[in-house]
Amino acid sequence: MRNPIILALDLPTSEEALAVAQAVVPWVRAFKVGKELFVSSGPRIVEQLRATGASVFLDLKFHDIPNTVAKAVAAAVRLDVQMLTVHCSGGRAMLAAAEAAAQNTASALGIHPPLVLGVTVLTSMDTHTLSELGGETDPAAQVERLARLAVGAGLRGLVCSPRELAQLRHQLPEGIQYVTPGIRTGAEPPDDQKRTLSPQEAMEAGATWLVIGRPIYAAPDPAAAAHRIWSSIQSIPATP
Ligand code: C5P
Repeated sequence: MRNPIILALDLPTSEEALAVAQAVVPWVRAFKVGKELFVSSGPRIVEQLRATGASVFLDLKFHDIPNTVAKAVAAAVRLDVQMLTVHCSGGRAMLAAAEAAAQNTASALGIHPPLVLGVTVLTSMDTHTLSELGGETDPAAQVERLARLAVGAGLRGLVCSPRELAQLRHQLPEGIQYVTPGIRTGAEPPDDQKRTLSPQEAMEAGATWLVIGRPIYAAPDPAAAAHRIWSSIQSIPATP
């Protein structure tokens, strides 16, 4: 089975991130580099993580005018990342420009285009937060609206909470890849994640990729934790 585990390396330095990455790499398909690690370590961390043989998910959640986002996406493709994120609320033209930049830059380099993932409504936002912004105040309705916009603009993947998987799989065409954080095994504290699913539950609900951070990197033995999670999902068939 294809390994769906993406380890979120939410760590402050490249030394700490690389130590964990090297320990867990047999059980992890990709490493997610977020704002903290990228700002502290720079683009070189992507190269260092690629050297382990795993893929890199650059989670910088671009949101700007189409031209600026397209150039940032092109730069990420040249760094050889396999997934990256943009905010769906940047609008159709920005989303289309991001996808076109991924395709065109990859084609010029003769490599596979990265998966450009749309971020819909941040899970830190609720009805009250949305009402302060104006417009749609129901988070589920806003997730659907933004997900449809992203797919209509050509995106092939979305980041979503595991609780939104069933809704989105029902509403969107087949073939979209779903990347889901908010995964807890039950063996660790929920931390600040409130609505979690286990790795098995998330796979059964239709996740394509699981983003897992603290249950692996903060475990006493990260490699053993990653292996346990990997073993726990081996018998679950991937949803197409
Ligand atoms: O440590 P934990 O497993 O909670 O890490 C989850 C990762 O997924 C973090 O990098 C977090 O920023 C990210 N994420 C999330 N919830 C979202 C979107 C991204 O937890 N809705």
